[in-house]
Amino acid sequence: MQFETVIHDGTVVTPSETFKADIGINGGVIAAVAERIAGGERRIDAGGRLVMPGGIEGHCHIAQESSSGVMAADDYYSGSVSAAFGGNSTFIPFAAQHRGQSIADVIATYDGRAAPNSVLDYSYHLIISDPSPAVLEELPGVFARGITSFKVFMTYDLMNIGDAGMLDILTIAKTHGALTMVHAENNEMVKWMNRRFAAAGLTEPKYHALSRPELAEEEAIHRAVSLAKLVDAALFIVHVSTRGGAEIVRREKLAGTKLFAETCPQYLALTRDDLDRPGMEGAKYICSPPLRDHATQEGLWQHIRAGTFESVSSDHAPYRADATGKFMNGADAPYPKIANGMPGIAMRLPYLFSEGVAKGRITLGDFVRLSSTNAARVFGLDRKGAIVPGFDADIAIWNPDEKRTVTLEAQHDNMDYSPFEGMEITGWPELVMNHGRTVVEKGELKAGRGDGRFIARKPVDTGAMPGHRAVEFEVAARYGKEIAP
Ligand code: URP
Ligand code: ZN
Ligand code: ZN
Ligand code: ZN
Repeated sequence: MQFETVIHDGTVVTPSETFKADIGINGGVIAAVAERIAGGERRIDAGGRLVMPGGIEGHCHIAQESSSGVMAADDYYSGSVSAAFGGNSTFIPFAAQHRGQSIADVIATYDGRAAPNSVLDYSYHLIISDPSPAVLEELPGVFARGITSFKVFMTYDLMNIGDAGMLDILTIAKTHGALTMVHAENNEMVKWMNRRFAAAGLTEPKYHALSRPELAEEEAIHRAVSLAKLVDAALFIVHVSTRGGAEIVRREKLAGTKLFAETCPQYLALTRDDLDRPGMEGAKYICSPPLRDHATQEGLWQHIRAGTFESVSSDHAPYRADATGKFMNGADAPYPKIANGMPGIAMRLPYLFSEGVAKGRITLGDFVRLSSTNAARVFGLDRKGAIVPGFDADIAIWNPDEKRTVTLEAQHDNMDYSPFEGMEITGWPELVMNHGRTVVEKGELKAGRGDGRFIARKPVDTGAMPGHRAVEFEVAARYGKEIAP
């Protein structure tokens, strides 16, 4: 059998196994995995390298206006390029409804932003901020297009849809096999704290973290899970930032609740001390839920190891530290008027590899699950997330030994800062492939604007017990020994 591309001599990593193998690719698809594959019109030497499924970024804000009208600094070009340099083959940004907008209009808007620009395969999660009867009627058409997940908010006045709104969405999602993602923070607690701090004149960035206490997340996670259980719908808790929140997720999963969850590198890498940097530097570290403390970091790592989280996602929310982003309300705006979010789409996987695999906190199999396989399964990307014959050739070749210090230039996004700048990272992606196309190779972009495809996703599979141990691939048995040309 002749192959267009053969990746040879690499160490292939699956969620359950790590072994030397060659990979043959034809027509954008993995055609064979075997101990030795001869030939190949293109032969890629992966000696001494790890060959893993390309990352799937399941949480990022690209070409999205925030509810207060600030446009993210990254469009589908810079966002996808930055994702690719960070080891991702596919990403799923949000298509965000603003109140009063029809869903048809939202999807058309994001198609116009993504299709001409993305270098990577993409899909969207639909953010619903206005679940009016007319909007709810549109949702079946959204599933039919392969957009099988929504995000709703329990916080932010312009986004929060209330408990009854959530029950409506969860009920429709259940009917269609869609997954509801939730940003869980108690809006009233946060607003009450904001009023108290404002009255006392406490408006510097560091008060942002104090205004959104751990209890606000824990209460909202508990409530969101209760709402989902009331109507027996699947739920995905995004950006869990607290030990208490993670404990609820773990307990509920063990009890059989159809629950999924993620955390993000910023909650592992940074603390609320970063909000107290001199001057307005702390504004760069304002995100919601906020950064916590060192004990939380340790707790979240324990939960990552224990399988509480399906994935570690970036929550890339790029607002520059200037008047287009963080400081749209002035250079010394009070914290409630500073844009929420930080960039990190290119650092998610290098950070997780370096702090996780290289430091012995997680295994290579865990890394593959947390970076790719689970996101594919949970979000219905049925031909992605594993190196298995018949799947898309979405592959990242990593040098596990390369050490580099993080710089802003290496992010390839449109940002003017990186919260990860200066960190020492061991293990970097060298070649990233999407559907058989080389997107990044040895620090160079090889793909073009608009080369990525919209991927229609499948309904969420809640047939297996949730929890990442349920997502295993018995792959070795399906591999051949030797494939001659
Ligand atoms: O602060 C954040 N995370 N901004 C992005 C929007 C969101 O809540 O995910
Ligand atoms: Zn959120
Ligand atoms: Zn500290
Ligand atoms: Zn987000």
